[in-house]
Amino acid sequence: MSEKVEIIAIDGPVASGKGSVSSRVAKALGFHVLDSGSLYRLTAYSALKHGADLSDEEAVEKIVLALSPVFESGKIFLDGEDVTEAIREEDVGIAASKVAVHPLVRKALFQVQRSYAKAPGLVADGRDMGSVVFPEATLKIFLTASAEARAKRRYNQLKEKGINSNISDLVKDLRERDERDLKRAVAPLVPATGARILDSSDLTLDETVNQVLEWYNGTKA
Ligand code: C5P
Repeated sequence: MSEKVEIIAIDGPVASGKGSVSSRVAKALGFHVLDSGSLYRLTAYSALKHGADLSDEEAVEKIVLALSPVFESGKIFLDGEDVTEAIREEDVGIAASKVAVHPLVRKALFQVQRSYAKAPGLVADGRDMGSVVFPEATLKIFLTASAEARAKRRYNQLKEKGINSNISDLVKDLRERDERDLKRAVAPLVPATGARILDSSDLTLDETVNQVLEWYNGTKA
């Protein structure tokens, strides 16, 4: 009999801390991680590079079907180019939210994302992990935080990388991105049925991780 794969789905808006929380939770449990946003970012990066019109669904579908990223020792390569840092840029994030509105793009990435579910378990981070991609998840979390708290975190992350930014521009960018993610017709950013809402505005990373682990352990009790 095949071993059951435990899935923890962590969805939420941009810069809610999903990435850091997911990798810490996965480490604590010895699970794999899926950063689904990176797949949308890679698609956007490649589309921008090929000069594709981001609003042209079929053109972007061609790009996503041809995508063959290589994930190696914490780095991501696309056609031999190390794009680990480049896909984290704000403009690529904004472009990702534009390609993510296309149903054909989401469909093409569906199986790719499902293939990450491997024993003993997976922590999947994104917007529709609990609602669409892994509806069978053992635990579904909707991780959120105020726009100001998220902008501040993003500001600090960029500063650590030596990138200068401006909080009010960041608040504006993330509101714009939230809006597109919330309003799209397919897989909009809404808490999955049965998801627990975790507001991390006033929590430290440790506190947030501990809450997720406590809820997960509660599913085993
Ligand atoms: O999480 P991250 O900021 O890397 O995601 C970039 C963009 O990709 C999001 O703003 C969203 O539009 C899209 N996305 C999505 N569904 C996911 C993950 C990301 O639509 N599961």
